[in-house]
Amino acid sequence: RTVYVNGEYLPETEAKVSIFDRGFLMADAVYEVTSVLDGKLIDFEGHAVRLKRSLDELDMAEPCTKEELLDIHRKLVELNGIDEGLVYLQVSRGSDGDRDFVFPSADTPPTLVLFTQNKPGLADNPAAKKGAKIISIEDIRWGRRDIKTVQLLYPSIGKMMAKKAGCDDAWLVEDGFVTEGTSNNAYFVKAGKIVTRPLSNNILHGITRKAVMRLAKEAQMEVEERLFTIDEAKAADEAFTTSASAFVMPVVEIDGVALGDGTPGPIARRLREIYIDEAR
Ligand code: PDD
Repeated sequence: RTVYVNGEYLPETEAKVSIFDRGFLMADAVYEVTSVLDGKLIDFEGHAVRLKRSLDELDMAEPCTKEELLDIHRKLVELNGIDEGLVYLQVSRGSDGDRDFVFPSADTPPTLVLFTQNKPGLADNPAAKKGAKIISIEDIRWGRRDIKTVQLLYPSIGKMMAKKAGCDDAWLVEDGFVTEGTSNNAYFVKAGKIVTRPLSNNILHGITRKAVMRLAKEAQMEVEERLFTIDEAKAADEAFTTSASAFVMPVVEIDGVALGDGTPGPIARRLREIYIDEAR
């Protein structure tokens, strides 16, 4: 694989970042994941706008212009021959060559890293035909989940807890209400109405969420943004998640309770289809 590090395109084995980089030592870094379908980036603009917001919220410098970022994305997709897959981008605050809680001076160059992941079958995904089994766990993450930082240890642990329970993923619950999935936004459907949590600092403002909500409204589906409990989701007709890496993923079971007939629901399947159709 050819990867990108601070202005250079290199074989992945030759790419280097300092051991003092604050992304490595302190998770002082933000990221984006943009999907690729038929060799084309999906919603690059949305990801670029969110990246800028994450950087601004953390007083981190922009590593380059949006046009340059688009160029790097496209070049990596081309160099690596990605037809279906992902582009991962990370910006960290860099380092002035030592470990310190205090930020390095503002003129310290940020570290910009991008790489591709080849994922044939991203659109025609067998996992989406089966649907995901979910467990619920407590949400103990920090309070600024709207900033897409690389502090992913707890989401990682959540996914491992799900695997151990024979499931696919975990939904996070705070003060009795579902926030989101470990790496996706969460929805349920009851009597034809799609319910999802409103945007706030408590969840990531998903780029796929925005597109899917728009598509749902365009298809005359009813959408309601409000807090909801895990018990409401368990009693739903169907449920699903959205993310750049899995598009719309039907959920068929929550904490051992099957939703509907235990297969992907019609609204989740339809939204997945129209999302992929529009992306193509
Ligand atoms: N995760 N919520 C969380 C906590 C996420 O990590 C993600 C994305 C989303 C969905 O956002 P979007 O639709 O913009 O991908 C919601 C990415 C895909 C990841 O960590 O790999």
